Amino acid sequence: MIKIKNLTVKYPDGTEALRSLDLAVNEGESIALMGSNGAGKSSLLLAITGIAPYADGEIYVDDILLSKKTVADVRQRVGMIFQDPDDQLFMPSVFDDVAFGPRNKGLDEKETVRVAESALEELKISHLSSRVPGKLSGGEKKLAALAGVLAMDPSNLLFDEPAAFLDPGAKRRLISLVRDLDHTKIIATHDGDIARQLCSRVIILKKGSLSYDGTPDILDDLSALEKYGL
Ligand SMILES: Nc1ncnc2c1ncn2[C@@H]1O[C@H](COP(=O)(O)OP(=O)(O)OP(=O)(O)O)[C@@H](O)[C@H]1O
Ligand SMILES: [Mg+2]
Repeated sequence: MIKIKNLTVKYPDGTEALRSLDLAVNEGESIALMGSNGAGKSSLLLAITGIAPYADGEIYVDDILLSKKTVADVRQRVGMIFQDPDDQLFMPSVFDDVAFGPRNKGLDEKETVRVAESALEELKISHLSSRVPGKLSGGEKKLAALAGVLAMDPSNLLFDEPAAFLDPGAKRRLISLVRDLDHTKIIATHDGDIARQLCSRVIILKKGSLSYDGTPDILDDLSALEKYGL
């Protein structure tokens, strides 16, 4: 569950990425976050994970108000899958990458192995376990990064452009795997297939403000999309 009240993100150079945004995402809901380049999608996702030092307003994750005191707790509840998986994968093997979070959380070795193996199995990538993350294909990297996030057992998932760099087959596989996850999800995307197939609700940002909040039917209405800034 994610609730945002009066969120403004203003960068030091004066760019206002988000302006007085209100948004509530219910538990188990999956929403597509859309909007043209620079509309504020990534800024919103970063703010929810507490990586936006220039944010002002209230962000609640599972009813916990994000603050300096709660940021560690909030980060356990929110898993972010970055647009570029190279930003996320840094260990010498896929297994170590997926095991990094649980190990860091203090799980013992046996439990760490169990959790990491089960995340790899869930995404059907156990065969990649001993591979070097940097040498995987784009689609494989995306799934490895997602496995690392799932291993942390967050209740909310934030995706920034999950379809970026994926060929049509990899995109279809990702969609079917993500559809089976029952987390609360915010998916920032320019991709209509992702929005239609994974989300029951579409939010469109325009210059940092909410311009549309409704069903994915909007995606079939070109003149309305234009009006809402897409
Ligand atoms: N670190 C930063 N410093 C200054 N301005 C920034 C910074 N990060 C983002 N911005 C600006 O904030 C605005 C929103 O950017 P953001 O990355 O959130 O957009 P976006 O919707 O994710 O766009 P895209 O579709 O291109 O990924 C843009 O005008 C951008 O130039
Ligand atoms: Mg972005």
